[in-house]
Amino acid sequence: MLDQRSSNIITVKAHTNIALIKYWGKRNESLFLPMNSSLSLTLDQFYTMTTVQFCKGLNEDVFIFNKAIAGEAETKKVSKFLNRIRKMAGSELHAIVKSINKVPTAAGFASSASGYAALAAAAAKAIGLDVNQTVLSQIARQGSGSASRSIFGGFVEWKKGLKDDGSDCYSLQIAGEQYWDIRILSVLLTTEEKLVSSREGMKRTVETSPFYQEWVLEAEKDLQEAKTAIKERNFERLGRVAEANALKMHATTLGANPPFLYWQPGTLAVVNQVQRLRNTGIPAYFTIDAGPNVKVLCLPENEQVIKEKLLSVPGVRDILVCHPGPGVTYTSDSI
Ligand code: ADP
Ligand code: DP6
Repeated sequence: MLDQRSSNIITVKAHTNIALIKYWGKRNESLFLPMNSSLSLTLDQFYTMTTVQFCKGLNEDVFIFNKAIAGEAETKKVSKFLNRIRKMAGSELHAIVKSINKVPTAAGFASSASGYAALAAAAAKAIGLDVNQTVLSQIARQGSGSASRSIFGGFVEWKKGLKDDGSDCYSLQIAGEQYWDIRILSVLLTTEEKLVSSREGMKRTVETSPFYQEWVLEAEKDLQEAKTAIKERNFERLGRVAEANALKMHATTLGANPPFLYWQPGTLAVVNQVQRLRNTGIPAYFTIDAGPNVKVLCLPENEQVIKEKLLSVPGVRDILVCHPGPGVTYTSDSI
């Protein structure tokens, strides 16, 4: 029926997430199946808004990104993702996709997570797929792995699954955004695009780093520890394991061939300041994704003092205070 007429225009808002236990490495690149399970917190401050309409008579997909027609490479990536959705729906209609990122793109702030979660939810609904959030997390995963987690709010686990077809690989919420009022201070050092994308970085690490097998084993242990800490609302326990897990992930990149490191001098300066704060009895823990910027976990009562201390670190340009955020929402707001 859809193939005879254009679809409704659907708009979705999706938030980024920060991994406390990182996804790092794929066991199947085309299905985006990860080597290890991961765990994240969805963030309220950073998000993507995406509108999708499948249109009769359109010969190719059109992608308007941050109010400009996207380049060929970006449009191709979006089309490839839409092909999966068209296949599921049995439709051949092309789409007009408009997306705006309220998050720096490709700078380690997880724009691919909010970007593909929003696109998956908007495109699935526009094309008439009646899917639950578990299936939506599996669809979003095939645009960018971390997008699987952004379907949900609060604390989210992405289960790696064991099956070759990915049917047991999906995300689920383990605690909602109201469950625990913790803060993530997003410390901005640079919004420059990173030199090695997460996709390329994790592939190189899987293929060449002698530390990689140990990472997979450690990540599974760290995940159990993080889940226990969340269950107990034990902040120190969660902070310790999140920080250690991030350092283990970055250690694998040093062993890759050629080796690479996402950190810049400012990254280390922030890390040192967080450790100094802890030495003075203020609980704060850092995590770092595939980029130089740092995210600092803290409790509401320490937010101000930590923010002030970090703003005085050389290289720090800004700090955005994030709270636990919601999962994908459909909206009538136009973009
Ligand atoms: P990060 O996730 O840290 O911003 P990545 O390199 O992992 O960086 O992902 C950035 C890529 O994700 C972009 O180059 C683009 O291909 C894709 N992306 C980001 N935002 C969107 C969006 N709103 N819609 C579609 N794709 C997006
Ligand atoms: C370090 O989800 O961006 O942020 O699946 O190739 O798109 P692709 O990778 P992506 O990688 C995220 C890596 C990370 C850790 C994490 O978010 O779990």
